[in-house]
Amino acid sequence: MRDKVTVPAIVASKGGPKLKVVTAYDTPSAQIADRAGADIILVGDTLAHVVLGFDDTLPATVDIMVHHTAAVARAKPDALVLGDMPWLSYHISIEEAVRNAGRLMQEGRAEAVKIEGGRKRLPVVEALLSAEIPVMGHLGLTPQSIHAMGGYRVQGRKVEAATELVADARALAAAGVFAIVLEGVPNIVAQIVTQEVPVPTIGIGAGPYCDGQVLVYHDVLGLHHGRLPKFVRQYTHLADIATEALEHFFADIEFGAFPAATESYHMDEASARAFHTLTRKEE
Ligand code: KIV
Repeated sequence: MRDKVTVPAIVASKGGPKLKVVTAYDTPSAQIADRAGADIILVGDTLAHVVLGFDDTLPATVDIMVHHTAAVARAKPDALVLGDMPWLSYHISIEEAVRNAGRLMQEGRAEAVKIEGGRKRLPVVEALLSAEIPVMGHLGLTPQSIHAMGGYRVQGRKVEAATELVADARALAAAGVFAIVLEGVPNIVAQIVTQEVPVPTIGIGAGPYCDGQVLVYHDVLGLHHGRLPKFVRQYTHLADIATEALEHFFADIEFGAFPAATESYHMDEASARAFHTLTRKEE
């Protein structure tokens, strides 16, 4: 048994061992991630395309996020359960943002939430923090801005954009976020941000200098056959293993090899004999 990971523990980890973060969208994957030693389990809005089959994250709604966050929380992980605020859940008004984040915590049992964006999100960050909702920031390639960015593109490649990104990170940290995801930015930008902010940075496609790393569960485990970005390292190919296992199962059905006697329920011998005699008489 390890200690429950808390928001203050995440903040205190700055400069210590790297934070290990992975997504999960349901109870069994959360149990596996937790058993493997995740510090944070992110119920990311990536679930919209990873497990719900949409092309991007925009169709994720608060109801969907609450449903999946609750499934992850029911695994009772030692890892921190982080709920992702979906697109439009914090863009319309501060009041709606607090209510929606509150739903992720009250109904979904998230222990913190994540929102995308920099200085323009400061009023939301401040309102969430004043409602006692810990907030993680997310800068760089922010997938909810796919159309504004003109696609999934690495951000901060030019000096001006990189400088803006550092200013965003500083402002989020000063407002009180407990960590910042840096997605799709050059290594040097992530390195400078990591040096500049007093809270941990968690990279995805942001190079080795961040205080932690996050990847999508299904990408790491090879649970799908889709195209993967270059920053993903696939550690196994569970989709192939699962296909092979199911082919075996279906072959056993076809050839009568499943179920075996040990996989079936039986009457005691006397009852079986009596039952046979009775049914034969009825014929
Ligand atoms: O939604 C998500 O899974 C994320 C991570 C990829 C950082 O935001």
